Amino acid sequence: LKRITTHILQEMKNKGEKIAMLTAYDYSMAKVVDEGGVDVILVGDSASMVMAGHETTLPITLDQMIYHASSVIRGTKRALVVVDLPFGSYQGNSKEALSSAIRVMKESGAHAVKLEGGAEVAESIERIVAAGIPVMGHLGLTPQSIYKFGTYTVRAKEEAEADKLKSDILRIQEAGCFSVVLEKIPAKLAQEVTASLIIPTIGIGAGQHCDGQVLVVNDMIGLTKGFTPRFLRQYLEMYDQINGAVQSYIKDVKSGSFPNEKEQY
Ligand code: KIV
Ligand code: NA
Repeated sequence: LKRITTHILQEMKNKGEKIAMLTAYDYSMAKVVDEGGVDVILVGDSASMVMAGHETTLPITLDQMIYHASSVIRGTKRALVVVDLPFGSYQGNSKEALSSAIRVMKESGAHAVKLEGGAEVAESIERIVAAGIPVMGHLGLTPQSIYKFGTYTVRAKEEAEADKLKSDILRIQEAGCFSVVLEKIPAKLAQEVTASLIIPTIGIGAGQHCDGQVLVVNDMIGLTKGFTPRFLRQYLEMYDQINGAVQSYIKDVKSGSFPNEKEQY
């Protein structure tokens, strides 16, 4: 089984073949997602919310991201594994960004890192790429800046912010990003920048014209019950299924029907 590379993703864009990406944070989920055939697995800092229960992505640490990433790596054979650099691990300066990226690569065995931002992180991208580490960008709604934005609403609806995004995306492509996530921006803007870029765009709430799509796996399988933004397509109702299974188990234990004669030694 051949491992997906950044070069294969570029060939996919060139051929018009869509890129499918999902998050994973642990060994078991990574294994089922990888064997399902996804092209890219993102160890997202969304782990801060869906794994650790924090309100935002800000609290998760580099050590915690490395723990999630090393678990995911052990569960994958085919997908390219990209790991988010968490808040506070790269914004200081480009040397700090490089040392964080090196720690992720060495300690987890991941294949690439992702970081949020445009021109302000271009120097960091250049330095990390120069060290031989592939970098994925992330523009539009960037959750590590949530307290600056104030809300999780659609970004770049106004011309000034759209123009800023267009110049940022060219800057990070020039800095050496192999791909970029576009989160929650108008479909028309995503279409325009996707056509203007050499590298593939991966959308989440960015419409049908991106070169690929990503979803948080817990959202996609319906585990994060009650989270139903317009961009989310839910493929399972895992919360309800697990909840039902738990109730059946409790009933069986309480009634004495589990374990039965065949389920004992
Ligand atoms: O952390 C994450 O899950 C992400 C994706 C939503 C792109 O950054
Ligand atoms: Na993220």
